[in-house]
Amino acid sequence: MKTSRWRDWAQWFWAFAGSVSIRTKIFGIVLGSTLLLSVAFTLQFRAVQIRLLEQKAREQGVSVARDVAARATDLILINDLYALHQLLLETQSNYQDIRYIFVIDPQGEVLAHTFGDEFPIELLDANWAAGDDFQNTRVLQTNEGMVWDVAVPIFDGRAGVARVGVSDTSLRQTITNLTTQLSVTIVAVLTASLLAATFLTWLLTRPILALVSATEAVSKGDFSQRVPRWADDEIGDLAEAFNQMTAELARADELQREREQLRRQLLEGVIAAQEDERRRIARELHDSTSQSLTSLMVSLRNIEAVCEKPQLLEQVTNMRQVLSQTLDEVHNLAVQLRPAALDDLGLEAALGRFVQEWQRQHRIQADLTVHIGENRLPEIIETAIYRIVQEALTNVARHAQATSASVLVHHRQRDVVTVIEDDGIGFDPGTVSANGHLGLLGIRERAELLQGRMTIESAPGKGTSVFVSIPLLTPEENGEIT
Ligand SMILES: Nc1ncnc2c1ncn2[C@@H]1O[C@H](COP(=O)(O)OP(=O)(O)OP(=O)(O)O)[C@@H](O)[C@H]1O
Ligand SMILES: [Mg+2]
Repeated sequence: MKTSRWRDWAQWFWAFAGSVSIRTKIFGIVLGSTLLLSVAFTLQFRAVQIRLLEQKAREQGVSVARDVAARATDLILINDLYALHQLLLETQSNYQDIRYIFVIDPQGEVLAHTFGDEFPIELLDANWAAGDDFQNTRVLQTNEGMVWDVAVPIFDGRAGVARVGVSDTSLRQTITNLTTQLSVTIVAVLTASLLAATFLTWLLTRPILALVSATEAVSKGDFSQRVPRWADDEIGDLAEAFNQMTAELARADELQREREQLRRQLLEGVIAAQEDERRRIARELHDSTSQSLTSLMVSLRNIEAVCEKPQLLEQVTNMRQVLSQTLDEVHNLAVQLRPAALDDLGLEAALGRFVQEWQRQHRIQADLTVHIGENRLPEIIETAIYRIVQEALTNVARHAQATSASVLVHHRQRDVVTVIEDDGIGFDPGTVSANGHLGLLGIRERAELLQGRMTIESAPGKGTSVFVSIPLLTPEENGEIT
């Protein structure tokens, strides 16, 4: 029970100390320790002083009482009570702290006192000294404070007892003065400590705060941050290490940028070469292969017209049908490789033809909506969007088991947004690895190469949406980036 409370306290303290700033911690340490030290010192000093002053008061009481006893002996013996009274008054007037003096004869009768008219009778029994006592001191509590009552036998007790009361008034006064002075000193020391703590925290936290803001900047990608080395202490070492770290990071970042630039250039080159090659092959297929096949077709038709042998005619007709099919295939292949419409009529027409052909081929209902305005998009973007739609619809046909799909190309502000959606089985995009699956990766790379980005929204049973957004950059912006 007890240990758990201690643990709770420790945890609370740890949480509190951890939640306040370094400034507050330093203030707390300086103020706390100064206050603790001052209070402890004051209490200790007061205690020592009180002990010393009490001892002094007792000694004074004894010394005065012994003096009175010695000087009163003769006066008592000759019964000169007037002189005795004078002696007591004179002695009292010499000492500020002597509250009273009185002399009692051996029978307990008061012979002389300094109380004026009325002698407080209860004092009589408060203290006594036998003949062989050197002195006897009692501490009495009175309405006006503490009194050290000293009793000294006169003439070995045969002439009575002299009693002296030493009050603690001046002692209390001295202690009060002392405490006041110490309190003033404590306030002065505390103020000085506060000022010192303010300066110290400023000195200490300034480099730390600078390091914090520099670290924040670095975390946002600004590796040009450097902090000055303020002093040759641990924080100075930290600043040095920080600067080395940011310099290293800047170097690594530069290297990374160069590599990325190289990769982009390479990819751009590969894609451009691929498109050129496709275009060349498509043109070759169209201009040369198709033409040759068409003239073969014409020749076969001519042979058909003049052929009289039915067996040969059937073979020629078969050949012509195969040739016609091959011609269609070659045409399709050429269109797939590089639709002439993309170069001649633009993206909308090319996509229209592709989507139509795709519907026919896969028997999946597909919509196409294109809002890109009057002007044609830059060729590189048109090609990228065409290839992206081609790849995404190929995926729909291969994987989605969809009944319908839609393609939207939309010019919004400075971006061209392309969305390919289907109502198929969907998939978890997080689980697709790049291993052997290059389609989606290709879409992403094409988009990123043009400063765009791709996102996929899909889940098993929920269909798939592929979003691609490509910005229309000005030539200057393009120049800056590539
Ligand atoms: N529209 C879709 N509906 C359902 N699953 C899809 C769809 N598109 C992609 N996928 C899933 O994501 C995977 C990755 O697609 P991706 O196009 O990258 O590769 P792939 O089609 O398998 O191979 P390829 O490299 O020939 O394109 C597919 O294998 C398929 O499981
Ligand atoms: Mg694919």
